[in-house]
Amino acid sequence: MRAAGRSAAAVLDRLCAMVEPGISTWDIDEMGGEIMKDMGIKSACKGYRSGNRIFPSYTCLSVNEEIVHGIGIKDRILQEGDVISVDVCIREEGFVGDNCRTVAVGEVSPEVARLLRVTEESLYLGLVNALHKNRVGDISSAVQKHVEKEGFAVITNFVGHGVGRTLHEDPQIPNFGRAGTGVQLRKGMAICIEPMVNTKSSGVRMAKDGWTALAEDNLPSAHFEHTLLVDEGTPEIVTLPPGYHHATKFLKARLEQLSLNIDLDC
Ligand code: MF3
Ligand code: CO
Repeated sequence: MRAAGRSAAAVLDRLCAMVEPGISTWDIDEMGGEIMKDMGIKSACKGYRSGNRIFPSYTCLSVNEEIVHGIGIKDRILQEGDVISVDVCIREEGFVGDNCRTVAVGEVSPEVARLLRVTEESLYLGLVNALHKNRVGDISSAVQKHVEKEGFAVITNFVGHGVGRTLHEDPQIPNFGRAGTGVQLRKGMAICIEPMVNTKSSGVRMAKDGWTALAEDNLPSAHFEHTLLVDEGTPEIVTLPPGYHHATKFLKARLEQLSLNIDLDC
């Protein structure tokens, strides 16, 4: 899980660095495929089956009102002021690493910047509740409370998940719910926490391509995700960005940038 997580994070970092006005989601996805090939790893998205549909891209690239599971498209050209969620899940030596970040294309409006910040913050607030003997609802409720306090809406149609030899395992990790309820977490469990947040309302509709989930309010949507291992203190984030080796160091640095105060149990 550590190796898979590290690789997933490295690919995500490279792809986020490519984001700029004028590039297409196809270009980003193709580069994702090439980087994975060079690293000797496989996409866990490409070929993913849902009923009789097969996901066609190496990565999920969701622009603006697209929430999740967007497909790389040649004429989807990024423009100044857009946001794009770059979701990378890979398989390495039989294990899956899954992570996502929403990044701004050039300069975005203050309200959109706030949406990205609050969604990322809600991920960390959920994450520090992923403690041995806590319950899934402790994560869910921490995410939901923060998002709603800031006036945004959590998606209920899609959820985080357990992860391991396959991408989606039990338990589900919803971004809404009550503290103290749900499955009990245990040290060593591998889970993905992934808040998906809409600007106004949580309604979702499906695009004609059968994959892309769209925000019903047609406003920008954000998505941040890490794969982590539950522990007695701060969980071990296996998808730390390159250059970071300890979850607490990363969280401290990032929380300071976001000016969010969370007590870290180191
Ligand atoms: N991070 C996404 C998820 O956990 C990755 C989906 S891959 C896809 O749902 F193939 F299902 F799109
Ligand atoms: Co996921």
